[in-house]
Amino acid sequence: MIRVFLVDDDEDDYVLTRGLLGDIPGSFELAWMPSIDKARAALRDTVPDLILLDYLLGAESGLDFLKELRRAGLGLPVIILTGQGDREIDMAAMAAGATDYLVKSELSAAILDRAIRYAMSVSELHRKLLEDHERLQQMEKLSVVGLIAAGIVHEVSNPLTGVMSLVQALHDGKAGDSRDEYFKAVKDGLERMRVTLRSLLDLAREQPLTLAEVDVAELVAACFRLMAATLRSRGITPVQDVPAGLRARADRSRVIQAILNLMMNAADATPSGGSITVSVTKKPGSIGIVVTDTGAGIAPAIAERILEPFFTTKSVGKGTGLGLPFVVQTAKLHGGDLTIASQVGKGTTMTMWLRDDAR
Ligand SMILES: Nc1ncnc2c1ncn2[C@@H]1O[C@H](COP(=O)(O)OP(=O)(O)OP(=O)(O)O)[C@@H](O)[C@H]1O
Ligand SMILES: [Mg+2]
Repeated sequence: MIRVFLVDDDEDDYVLTRGLLGDIPGSFELAWMPSIDKARAALRDTVPDLILLDYLLGAESGLDFLKELRRAGLGLPVIILTGQGDREIDMAAMAAGATDYLVKSELSAAILDRAIRYAMSVSELHRKLLEDHERLQQMEKLSVVGLIAAGIVHEVSNPLTGVMSLVQALHDGKAGDSRDEYFKAVKDGLERMRVTLRSLLDLAREQPLTLAEVDVAELVAACFRLMAATLRSRGITPVQDVPAGLRARADRSRVIQAILNLMMNAADATPSGGSITVSVTKKPGSIGIVVTDTGAGIAPAIAERILEPFFTTKSVGKGTGLGLPFVVQTAKLHGGDLTIASQVGKGTTMTMWLRDDAR
């Protein structure tokens, strides 16, 4: 038994449809909803297997109702019925989430039967696809979690071993005159663990973004202010090349943190006398924040790995390898990505793309 709702203000259409469905061998249970309000109320009690939805119900639009159903997460098959064949309406119906589109004057029992069965199998396929997609995403997440777990063990267990033996020595009174040094080493070890865990938290924080209009030049200027002392002490020239007045929708503090990560990496790779430039670039729908350095570049042998959580070429205690994963995550949360261009001995350019739907 296939339960069908017909949402149509015209009683003649109901009689016609009932007649056609009656001609189809197999069983349909047809319920007639003469208005969208009636359909809305009925849907609160029962969700049918399929909806036949009139394109225009008096002053009301069937497409708006369809969009409302889809927004509410109802994935059931919906076939739009219309008085005339019109490609534009057909396209609009599909864009609104219709499973199929039929012209009333061309309806026959055979066409209706075929359309209903087809719509039901399409929507079943669609449901399975969505399920598979979710499962895949879950698996991808798991493997990242595995990588991260391995990284934590590595990053935290070294200082942990050190701290434990220092504490043991202090407890046993073996520190002698070096008690202060021992305590300082314990503090350093704990600090390293804290930094690792904090960057991990930043990465794992899947809190929703706080999106607001930001002034890109102002945001970049804030980054340069925070980096000023570091760049000066390393003899690196800062270059700000962002036009005034450029705006974007973004999570300000997250994006600042991501840019700082890129600038910090650039500073670590750049010798004294070099420069770090931040500029912007655009492509349709996106804005790119570009951090360019005149540093060492990235060797092809490691280029594949630099985005892995915990991959670092820096000495113990200096880098955790969580900077770029944070940048990638930030870009992805903004609907974008990170692109990298690098030449060994010449320098590196990293572009963090953010979607910019507003324009
Ligand atoms: N601008 C750059 N130039 C050259 N190498 C870079 C650059 N940016 C990143 N890398 C390489 O990529 C690696 C990973 O970078 P990432 O920011 O993820 O971690 P990290 O800087 O080593 O540590 P963390 O950012 O957690 O302190 C770095 O260790 C470095 O080898
Ligand atoms: Mg880094």
